[in-house]
Amino acid sequence: MRILSGIQPTGTLHLGNYFGMMRPAVELQERGDAFYFIADLHALTTVRDPAALRANSRELAIDFLACGIDPSRSVFFRQSDVPSVTELAWILSTVTPMGLLERCHGFKDKTARGMAASHGLFAYPVLMAADILIYDSDLVPVGRDQKQHLEVTRDIAVKINETYGEVFKLPKPDIRDDTAIVPGLDGAKMSKSYHNTIAIFESEAALKKKIMGIKTDSTPVEAPKPVEDSVILGLYRLVASEADFRAMEGDHLAGGVGYGDLKKRLFSGIWEYFAPQRARREEIFSDPEFVDRVLAEGAVRARAAADPVMSRVRAAVGL
Ligand code: AMP
Ligand code: TRP
Repeated sequence: MRILSGIQPTGTLHLGNYFGMMRPAVELQERGDAFYFIADLHALTTVRDPAALRANSRELAIDFLACGIDPSRSVFFRQSDVPSVTELAWILSTVTPMGLLERCHGFKDKTARGMAASHGLFAYPVLMAADILIYDSDLVPVGRDQKQHLEVTRDIAVKINETYGEVFKLPKPDIRDDTAIVPGLDGAKMSKSYHNTIAIFESEAALKKKIMGIKTDSTPVEAPKPVEDSVILGLYRLVASEADFRAMEGDHLAGGVGYGDLKKRLFSGIWEYFAPQRARREEIFSDPEFVDRVLAEGAVRARAAADPVMSRVRAAVGL
């Protein structure tokens, strides 16, 4: 089974990225032949500072490796190191109906927030379809917000198959229901654009400050506290054992424990959960060439997987 996913180097990784996409991706390495990449071509639609893009790509590579990508098992690479993906995106775009792209939330949300409507932003889902189809992917682990992009990918693949014969496999999304939407500090979906994120590699002081600053209601210490929509419980569930989570939920329901104490427990839970990842990250920092080696080798292996698919596509369409 071929597993594939990508992540844009557009900022610091947060718990939404980790639980929505990275942790499932790391777990899936055991179940198949995994391809993970840094979507730097996609990031060009929003990042216009070359030094920042380069630095973000490298930092993302380090952080993703620290979170458990095993380069001896998985192919880990930069999207732009496989240039034929843009050729495939062009071929796919020739059968993609405008209406399909006009319906995409990603484009609508970004332009509604004032971003200029570039062709790249509009065609974003077509490049994503090319990313997926060029490796004959079976399964794509992503957060719920990418569901529509996976539907577009399948629609485009069907269109090509109807037009040119069986060229592509139809990939399936892998969206985990329990962590499909990770809440941010304010209870809305955790997202860079809402400024409500907790970074995976937050410093201890910054993490404490963010957690202690979570807005709570004015329920007195002795009184029971609401569990529905509780940001503290929503985040704690992700990092705590089942027993610790039940204990904290019990403390909410019974009363007698203040929000300050509950937040301290949440802080410790998050801090301890990411201790192994922090240690691995320090190791990677101590060998700066490691990342370059992994990405160079990943590029070779990714191109080797893409080449036969591209030959098949070119032959099918008449190039
Ligand atoms: P983004 O940073 O929005 O490009 O997202 C990168 C990956 O993380 C995608 O697979 C998203 O679906 C996932 N992701 C981002 N934010 C969240 C969230 N709050 N909950 C779950 N998954 C998320
Ligand atoms: N659009 C995805 C995101 O913003 C990143 C991405 C690009 C991707 N190409 C992909 C994810 C292919 C999965 C498969 O998160």
